[in-house]
Amino acid sequence: MSVPAVSRAEKKIRRQESLLFFRRWLKRPFQVGTLAPITPKLARLAAQAVSNPDGLYVEIGAGTGRLSRALLQQGVKPEKLALVELDPFFCSFLNQTLPSVLEPDQSLPFVIEGDAAKLPDLLPTHFIGKVDVVFSVIPLMYIPTSVRQAIIEAAFQVLKPGGGIIHVTYNARSPLSFMPNLHQHRLGQLWLNLPPGFVWHYQQVL
Ligand SMILES: C[S@@+](CC[C@H](N)C(=O)[O-])C[C@H]1O[C@@H](n2cnc3c(N)ncnc32)[C@H](O)[C@@H]1O
Repeated sequence: MSVPAVSRAEKKIRRQESLLFFRRWLKRPFQVGTLAPITPKLARLAAQAVSNPDGLYVEIGAGTGRLSRALLQQGVKPEKLALVELDPFFCSFLNQTLPSVLEPDQSLPFVIEGDAAKLPDLLPTHFIGKVDVVFSVIPLMYIPTSVRQAIIEAAFQVLKPGGGIIHVTYNARSPLSFMPNLHQHRLGQLWLNLPPGFVWHYQQVL
C-alpha cells in the first residue's frame, strides 16, 4: 500500500483530533471504544473497499473523521457520503474540519448526529436502498448482541441489493459471529498496527 503525501490541513486535524478523541473517551469509554482514532494506515486499508467513485457511501461511528477523510481521499464524492455519529462534539468537529480537506467548490458530506441503529430514519431519502457500502468503526464488541444486531439490520435496510458492510475492529474474531445469516469474510489485517487492526466484510446470505 503506497503512503500518500500528508497535507498541512490533515496534519493539523490529526493533532486536534487526538486530543478531542481522548477527552470523549474519558467521558464515554464504551461508546467511543478506543483511546485514539484508527491509524491512517488502517483507515486506508478499509477505504480500499471503495470500488465505484460515483457510488453512495455511509460511515457509521464517524468520530473525528479519520476514516471519513480516507474515504474522500479514495475518491468518494463528498455529496455522496453520509457520516453518522452519536456524539455531538464529534459532529461539530467534523463540520469544522472537513472543509479544510475539500476543494473550495466541493460541498460537505452529510454529517448526521444520531444512532446508527436508526439509520433508515436518519439518511436523506435518496440514500435509502441505494448505498454501495456502509463503513463501520463502531466498537461492536462492547455493545450487547441485540444492539449489534439492530445496527447491522439497519445498515442492510439502506444498502442496495448486493451491497455490503465494511467493519473495522481490533478484534481478530468477527463481532457478528452469532449472526448465521451473514457471509463474513476478513478482507484484510494489519498485524503491525498498534493494536493490530482487522477489516471485515459482511453481506447478507440470500
Ligand atoms: C472507535 S470510534 C471510531 C472513530 C472513527 N471512525 C475513526 O476512524 O477512528 C467509534 C465511534 O462510534 C461512535 N458510536 C458508537 N455507537 C454509535 C451508534 N450507535 N451510532 C453512531 N455512532 C456510534 C462513537 O461515538 C465513536 O465516535
